[in-house]
Amino acid sequence: MFALKDAATDLPKPELYRDLAAQLEALLAGERDFVANAANASALLFHTLADLNWAGFYLMRGGELVLGPFQGKPACVRIPVGRGVCGSAVAERRSINVPDVHAFPGHIACDGASRAELVVPLVRDGAILGVLDLDSPVPNRFDEEDRAGCERLAAILIGASDPL
Ligand code: SME
Repeated sequence: MFALKDAATDLPKPELYRDLAAQLEALLAGERDFVANAANASALLFHTLADLNWAGFYLMRGGELVLGPFQGKPACVRIPVGRGVCGSAVAERRSINVPDVHAFPGHIACDGASRAELVVPLVRDGAILGVLDLDSPVPNRFDEEDRAGCERLAAILIGASDPL
């Protein structure tokens, strides 16, 4: 049902994320607009990583997270800091890997198909600008290599884009 989307997903994860980092750097080269770059980053991730049903961004706006560029089904628009997986990642200033969203107290269900979730904060000069959020219909989809790889991709996006 959720077939691999790209030959790159056959690679071992360290190579896959090295490849993705190079692709993202090439994709964003010469463009500093954050929204354009985040939109292309979400498309790259969604169409390269296997078994995702949502890939995108929530951005800090007036003290709460607001939906940004994404790929997948329509999602909830506003998430207070401290709520759900996304708001918890901001409050705790760290990436959060949830193997089973049904077991995460306060998880916000946007797409009922989601079973696992990885949220990585977007950090510039110590300030959290938003989060990268990946959802999967496969329980236990994400591991430490995904976390490390996605933190690197988030850093590339931030480094390649002007502040909003
Ligand atoms: N599940 C998230 C909400 C965003 S959607 O997954 C796109 C959360 O609990 O914060």
